[in-house]
Amino acid sequence: MAHLFKRNVLLGVTGGIAAYKSAELIRQLQLLGANVRVIMTHGAREFITPLTLQALSGNPVHTELLDEQAEQGMGHIELARWADLLLIAPATADLLARLATGRADDLLTTTALATAAPLLVAPAMNQQMWRDQATTDNIATLATRGVHLVGPAAGEQACGDVGPGRMEEPTIIAAAAAGLFQSGLLAGKRVVITAGPTREAMDPVRYISNHSSGKMGYALAQAAVDAGASTTLVSGPVNVPVPDGVHKVSVESAEQMLDQCQALLGECDIFIACAAVADYRPASIEQHKIKKGAEQLTLELVRNPDIVAAVANSAQAPFTVGFAAETNDVLSYARDKMQRKGLDMIVANDVSDQNIGFNSDQNAVTVMWSDGEQALPCASKNSIATQIVALIAQNKP
Ligand code: C5P
Repeated sequence: MAHLFKRNVLLGVTGGIAAYKSAELIRQLQLLGANVRVIMTHGAREFITPLTLQALSGNPVHTELLDEQAEQGMGHIELARWADLLLIAPATADLLARLATGRADDLLTTTALATAAPLLVAPAMNQQMWRDQATTDNIATLATRGVHLVGPAAGEQACGDVGPGRMEEPTIIAAAAAGLFQSGLLAGKRVVITAGPTREAMDPVRYISNHSSGKMGYALAQAAVDAGASTTLVSGPVNVPVPDGVHKVSVESAEQMLDQCQALLGECDIFIACAAVADYRPASIEQHKIKKGAEQLTLELVRNPDIVAAVANSAQAPFTVGFAAETNDVLSYARDKMQRKGLDMIVANDVSDQNIGFNSDQNAVTVMWSDGEQALPCASKNSIATQIVALIAQNKP
């Protein structure tokens, strides 16, 4: 069933009588697993209070574009980056006109321009306003820009008219929002994803590891399942919930991760190496806990196998995607790494930027393949994952 598990839905509410249904819509989105934040226009606040939508969403409601306080917290750029989906319900005729002309004269329209997330609108207006040529033209313009539409429904209206223009029911809008993430782009494909850190044991109680949170790998697993793939995560120890429908194989060391990946190779069309594999492991694991004593302790390390290179160079190599975390000359090092390891695609990210990467919920990357590349600007890891999966589907032969 379509869901919005862990998706960040930014709900824009504009000034129509259907705004009272936004309260129920928040509930429906949450029932499907979404995190919801709300932007209200000034008109919307004439119909329903921010307090109601704040209590239901569990987050402060955003209303002002030019507000020092708001910009210090979550301003329009932060909201735009946070969103996996911008859903505007109800969307008035005025809002549709402002979107169609690209205006940025309040917080909602400015955020709509600033976000890379998909946009879904649920129009609500008088039937004659909906039928007006200006509204028809605006809807057509928005459709050419990839804006998704749900409704309007037809029937009796608040003003007494009967016809098309009623906002679609909240359950139907929430289902349409969820449906946008079920692309089917990888239907029938088998995807294996490595994620998280590895732990390299020194003795029975100690290990060498790193700070990888696993969030990016798990977001990719979610995106792969949503795209219709049968998906397996080979994961080091992390604290991230396993997305519904994903099969998880837990490992600790790099050698265990390699063994499990090789065992899955016969059933794998696409391999994505997102794990932060330790490059070295202790040359031997002490049988007993190493005792404290000498002032200095020397630990001998040996190189770990390169899992993604082994997969890419295997006899039945799947379409293989690696990651490259770099601090300088990011793109040239990443392209070099792609060629050296024999990969089909590489996702380069600049880890010198503290706001993205390892433990953050956001990322900004450039995806590179043999004869092309695409930059994906800063967005939630879920949104980046969905975009990476779409690029894999486009490039996989
Ligand atoms: O060589 P480097 O560690 O920078 O390469 C990063 C890419 O290689 C990532 O995709 C990572 O998952 C993969 N990798 C691996 N096995 C290793 C080291 C890195 O699969 N031992």
